[in-house]
Amino acid sequence: MDIFEALRLSHDTQRTLATQILETQGASPERGGLFRQLKHELAAHAAAEERFFYRVLIEFDSTMAQARHGMAEHHEMDEFVTELNKLEMSSPAWIAHFRKLRDKVFHHLEDEEHAIFQLAGKSLTGKQKTSLAKDYEEAFASFRLGEMPVNSAEG
Ligand SMILES: [Fe+2]
Repeated sequence: MDIFEALRLSHDTQRTLATQILETQGASPERGGLFRQLKHELAAHAAAEERFFYRVLIEFDSTMAQARHGMAEHHEMDEFVTELNKLEMSSPAWIAHFRKLRDKVFHHLEDEEHAIFQLAGKSLTGKQKTSLAKDYEEAFASFRLGEMPVNSAEG
C-alpha cells in the first residue's frame, strides 16, 4: 500500500459518514452517533495526514503551496465542527451548517485526490510512498483509538 491508497481509505469513510448524516432526522441517536464518528474520523485523519504527508510536501517547492492550502482547509473544517458542537442538533441551523461542512469535506478530498496526489506523486520516491503509508497508518490507528484528537479550532 502506498500513501495515496492509505489516505483514500479514510476519504471513503468520510464521504460515507457525511452522506449518511444528511439522511438522518433531528437529534436522533443515529445522527448523534454518526456525527461523533465523523468528527473522530476527520480529526484523526487530518492529524496523521499533516504529520506524515503534508509535513513532507512542505519540503518541496513544487508542493509547498498545496500542502499549506490543504492544512488551512483542515482548520476550516475544524471550525465548522466547533460551530456544529455549539448548535442544537435538532435545529434547521444545524443541518444547514452541516451541509457546509459536508461540501467543504467533499471539496477538500477532491482537491487532494485530483491535484495534490498527482503533484506529490512526482516529488516522492517509491520508497517514501511506502514508508509514509506505514507511518501514517500507525499514527491514524492510534489517534482513532484515543480520545478525540486535536481540533485546531479549539487549541
Ligand atoms: Fe486532508
